[in-house]
This record gives sequence, structure tokens and C-alpha cells, in this order.
Amino acid sequence: MAVLPQRDPARNRPRNVVTEPPVRAVIVLGTRPEAIKLAPVVRAMDASPLWEPFVVSSGQHREMLAPMLAALDVKAHTDLAVMRDRQRLSSLTGRLVTALDVTLRAERPDVVVVQGDTTTALCGALAASYEQIPVAHVEAGLRTGNLYNPFPEELNRRLIARIARWHFAPTESAAAHLRAEGIAGPDVRTTGNTVIDNLHWMLRQGRGEAAFRTAGKRVLVTLHRRENQGSGMRGLAGAVRRLADRGDCEVLLPLHKSPAVREALLPGLSGHPGVTICEPLGYPDFTATLAACDLVLTDSGGVQEEAPSLGKPVLVLRTTTERPEAIDAGVARLVGTDPGEVYAAASRLLDDPAERDRMARAVNPFGDGRAAERILAALVRGCLRPDAARFPARD
Ligand code: UD1
Ligand code: UDP
Repeated sequence: MAVLPQRDPARNRPRNVVTEPPVRAVIVLGTRPEAIKLAPVVRAMDASPLWEPFVVSSGQHREMLAPMLAALDVKAHTDLAVMRDRQRLSSLTGRLVTALDVTLRAERPDVVVVQGDTTTALCGALAASYEQIPVAHVEAGLRTGNLYNPFPEELNRRLIARIARWHFAPTESAAAHLRAEGIAGPDVRTTGNTVIDNLHWMLRQGRGEAAFRTAGKRVLVTLHRRENQGSGMRGLAGAVRRLADRGDCEVLLPLHKSPAVREALLPGLSGHPGVTICEPLGYPDFTATLAACDLVLTDSGGVQEEAPSLGKPVLVLRTTTERPEAIDAGVARLVGTDPGEVYAAASRLLDDPAERDRMARAVNPFGDGRAAERILAALVRGCLRPDAARFPARD
């Protein structure tokens, strides 16, 4: 029996709790969506004497990560600062695996937790497996079936699935993808997506302000995917411009920091009176903005999951999606990337309030807000088997 060390006395953890040694978890995150989706897991670990979390920021996103972590009440214990301007996947991967190896050898955790499908997540899993440290994968099992779309995310998540020991699938269909790949058994759990936990947490606090300037029809647009960059994204900028040309709506575009995104979007859209362009919004303001809009046009994964929960119709500007649940529920449509079709689909929804209302139903196909709780209960059973009786598995 050991007295829990108080790694961070500023945190609200119970003091001097006598128990088994806590589970030492390294949580690896590096981009905006990983911060958002791992925050509920970190906050739950922070609040529990059973866990000793150590948060590694890879720094894959330099500017977009730090404010996000602060807004989410998550503190990174170390920052590997790997980001370079216009980073290439191979050199980013080299820097990440090298730096993560040093951290993991120093920390020697019981488990490494990674999320989703970014290069940070893949490298976190790879560096952990080189040190034979078991990996837990949050948001496991998403698939489009196309290795190059989204790229490199489909590749990353398939590779992480081969490495991970615990697989936390957000939905039944994600768990079914894992089973179809021969990954099954008690270490695959359907938990819901932690993005919904975080959305509820944020909205409960009532922080944040919508970034729209006007009170008319409000269209929120986010674009960043690598496979859309270049001519595809320039075409999408044209579609958005035509939408703003209608003169009856305000288009709000919080711009991703990627220079490739800015080069594609700014020439066609800056200076247009119907388009409000801003820097990436902090999470409190982004969620308030999402809650205030009438229509979402996006290629983002996270936004596809959050918008249905707030009853916002979504047009997905991609040719594939690994999140079919929102489409099946009738609240999202996969409209592709052809500018004419994107314009027509968005215009139709703006012209037809009844059609918009049919899509604007709040549904939660991605989770009920208790994903982190389920993940920790399952993980603690996995990592602390002798202690498992105190943590009954939850559905
Ligand atoms: C990354 C993820 C993608 C995820 C997205 C979320 C990979 C390969 N891609 O894509 O899965 O959907 O994050 O936003 O992991 N930059 C800055 N400051 C920042 C962030 C980015 O200047 O805070 C610029 C840099 O020039 C950087 C470039 O954006 O090189 C691209 O960043 P990167 O993380 O490689 O790719 P994303 O497109 O952001
Ligand atoms: N987001 C944000 N500010 C913005 C745009 C998005 O906080 O200006 C949040 C959004 O709520 C969602 C997440 O960022 O949870 C999505 O990140 P992104 O689109 O960059 O990545 P993806 O989800 O596609 O991997």
C-alpha cells in the first residue's frame, strides 16, 4: 500500500489517500482536436486518486494548442515543440518519435493514451510500442475504407489499431470495423465520443460568445483537410463566395493556421462584405458560435460530431466520411467538393426553412457525454486488474 504522491498540489485531488499506487498514464496530444477530445479523460484522471496523468504536448500545433488547453482546464507537463512551418509528414514523424521516445523512457508509464488519427497519435503509439508500453486508443475504429481519404488519417488510425491494446470505439459501427479487422474481445469497448463530454462541459459553463456580426441567416464554415488543399479548396472558396453573393446571409470563416489553407481561401474570400474571416476561435467562442448558427459547412471531423448534438444541419465538404452516423440520422449530408454542388446544396437549405428544420434536430449519435467515465473504468480494470472489483464495467 502506498500514499499517493501529489504530483500537482494545485489540482483538486484528494490528499493522502491510501490505496494501490496510482496508474501512471502518459497522455499524448498535439493538435486542436486531440486536446478537445482528450480533455475529459485528463480532467477525470486529475480528479481521481487512482490516476497519475502526465500530459505530453507534442506541439504539432504551436499556436492552436496552448489556448485550447487553457480553455479546457488541462495543463501539459511537457511540450516537445515539434511544429515547423509547412511541416512534412515524414520529418514531423521523425521528430515526434525521437522526442516521444526520450519522454517515455524518462516517465515509464503503465499506459500511453492516444486519440484519433493524427501524426502525433500515430507517433505516440509507435514510440510507446518500441518501449513495450501498452497503448490505449481513444476514438478507435473510424474508417472510410479509402487509405488516401482522409489522408493521412485513415492510414494513421489503421496503424494505431494494430499497435493498441485497448480500443475505445465511439460508436457501434466503429467497433464493428475493428471486429472486421480481427480486433475483438473485452479490450474493445464502445464508449461514445469524448467530444460530446467536452461539448456538454463547455456549454454548461456558459462562457464564450458567438462570433457572428449580424442577426440574419448565419453560416459557419471550417475547412482544413490536406486532401482538400490546393485547387479543391480554392473551388470550395468559390462556392462559399457565391453563397455570400446571395446577400441574405453572413458567412463566418474561422481560419485554420495552416498556410496552405490560407493560400487557398483568402484570395477568393477576403474583403467580401458577406464573409467574416477570423483567426481560429477559442473553444468557448467556437461552441457558442456553433450554437448560434443556422447552417454548417465543414470538412472537420470534430465539427461533424458536435453540430448534430446542437441540432445544426451540416453539409460535409468531403467525398468520404468516417462519421456516417450523423448522415444516417438525417442531420448531415455528404455533399462532396464540387463547387457547383456545394453551392446548390447550401443555397437550397437557405431558401427552404422547412427543409432546414427537418435537418435541425438535436441528436446524439456520437455519445451521451459519459465516454471518458467509461474509458477510465475500462482502463483501470485493464491496468489495475487486482483492484478491478472497485470499478464495475459500465455499458
Ligand atoms: C492536423 C492533423 C489533422 C487534423 C488537424 C486538426 C495530421 C497529419 N493532421 O492537420 O488530422 O484534422 O490537425 O486541425 O496529423 N500551423 C501553424 N500553427 C498551428 C497549427 C498549424 O502555423 O498552431 C501551420 C504550420 O505551418 C504547420 C501547418 O499549419 O506546418 C500544418 O499543420 P499540421 O499539424 O501538419 O496539419 P493540419 O492540417 O493542421
Ligand atoms: N474548433 C475550435 N475553433 C475553431 C474551429 C474549430 O475550437 O475556430 C474546434 C471544434 O469545436 C472541433 C475541433 O476544433 O471540436 C475540430 O478541429 P479541426 O476541425 O481542426 O480538426 P478535425 O476534427 O477535423 O480533426
